[in-house]
Amino acid sequence: MKITIINGPNLNLLGKREPDIYGSRTFEDFFEELKNTHPATKLEYFQSNVEGELVSKIQQAGFSSEGIILNAGAYTHTSAAIGDAVAAVPAPVIEVHISNVFAREEFRHKSFISPHCNGIIVGFGLDGYNLAIRHLQSQQ
Ligand code: DQA
Repeated sequence: MKITIINGPNLNLLGKREPDIYGSRTFEDFFEELKNTHPATKLEYFQSNVEGELVSKIQQAGFSSEGIILNAGAYTHTSAAIGDAVAAVPAPVIEVHISNVFAREEFRHKSFISPHCNGIIVGFGLDGYNLAIRHLQSQQ
């Protein structure tokens, strides 16, 4: 099966960005571990800081992958366009946040994406991606 991981703005800075909140590991390093942990699953990784590029990738992967794991970063809290893209595609989408957004500022409590997702994993650090993969695998 094929699963696409899509990360939004500023998640390219993982490892350097606010390590007390997001940890000190780069996503590229973590992604290598994920691939080793799930050798039978074809994992694809895409990151963009641009809203429209995230919409286009959700559209493309949503018709060609068996699942999407989406961390839209701050666009989670602002983007009707990303929410609409998630609603438009047949692939199951799991929303992941590294930090516990509900323990942070109020503006992070709102998600335009959650209503259209199969589930949400919040606050388990990078392990959230691993948990999302395991769930999608269990649905095959
Ligand atoms: C985040 C939480 C968002 O509120 C924030 O804007 C991010 C990262 C997370 O993974 O915890 O960029 O999505």
